[in-house]
Amino acid sequence: MKILAIESSCDETAAAVVEDGRSVLSSVVASQVEEHRLYGGVVPEIASRRHAEAIVPVVSQALSDAGLTLEGVDAVAVTHAPGLIGALLVGVNFAKGLSLASGLPLIPTHHLRSHIASNYISNKELKPSFLCLVVSGGHSHIVMVEDYTRMKIIGRTRDDAAGEAFDKAARTMGMPYPGGIALDKVAEEGDPRAFTFPRPVVRDAPYDFSFSGLKTAVINLIHNSAQKGIELSKPDVCASFRLAVVNCLVSNFLRAADDLGVRRLVIAGGVSANSLLRKMLAEEAEKRGCEFFMPEKSLCGDNAAMVGSQAYYEYLSGNIAGADLNAYATMSIE
Ligand code: KG4
Ligand code: ZN
Repeated sequence: MKILAIESSCDETAAAVVEDGRSVLSSVVASQVEEHRLYGGVVPEIASRRHAEAIVPVVSQALSDAGLTLEGVDAVAVTHAPGLIGALLVGVNFAKGLSLASGLPLIPTHHLRSHIASNYISNKELKPSFLCLVVSGGHSHIVMVEDYTRMKIIGRTRDDAAGEAFDKAARTMGMPYPGGIALDKVAEEGDPRAFTFPRPVVRDAPYDFSFSGLKTAVINLIHNSAQKGIELSKPDVCASFRLAVVNCLVSNFLRAADDLGVRRLVIAGGVSANSLLRKMLAEEAEKRGCEFFMPEKSLCGDNAAMVGSQAYYEYLSGNIAGADLNAYATMSIE
């Protein structure tokens, strides 16, 4: 079954053709990041306008890269939640139009479920059940993936997402948006023991995260030093901060895995590209004799291939939308 998938939840307009949930026939991503960089973050109104401009060429390119026309496709899938509402609506309405004009079934797909599905493309042998750490710019969840479309949230952030904390820390150090990627690179040159940052825990909720205090701690360190005229080593700050965030993620995730007795561990979302997180979890999993899976780096960020993968399983479970499909800024992964 060949699915044409469309993604427009944030600042990437993407389309892909994916066969049977696992094999990517084409994947096109048009990023707006350069434009949003001018403002230090995503400007929702600009995002919607750029999606409206990009959607036709991006979808056409995905079809032609796969050597197909709409006649060769079996269904249209689209991210309908969660995300920036104006941005989501561009993809949803375009997919609705395609489905109405062609008679193809329309499959609504949850953005975070799609991030998890990027692993089905990178790891062909991976099947549920497993425990997944889903870490993106807007979410930090520990999710029990019982089946392809049956999930349970085990832990979640109480305030900022891990990606948000990375981006804010990086921005305070003058790095361009989205700073998480740059911070990860600079951290490689630094000493992670140079500064001590807190490892916040949430009382009575051992699997939940809290990153806002950690974010404030790094911002205060940078501002206080600047006021006193003290020059900080950027690589040392980045390395110490990255270690603190990754320690929080890894320790709650492993604790949940131990308590639930799960031995198959998976990571997903933009922050799953983080080199320290990948390395630390790979090592910990090996020590414990657990299986560990991660998406290839090119599939960690937003793309439509992951949407086409998840949509296949949504279709098999009967999740098909009508012409009244709407977009939602928030929606639980469950
Ligand atoms: O999943 P994603 O592409 O978009 C959302 O759905 O939010 O995640 C974007 C987030 C940004 O905060 C970005 O800074 C972060 O992922 N990110 C990273 C790395 N690469 C991307 N954070 C830390 N280390 C990285 N290597
Ligand atoms: Zn995303």
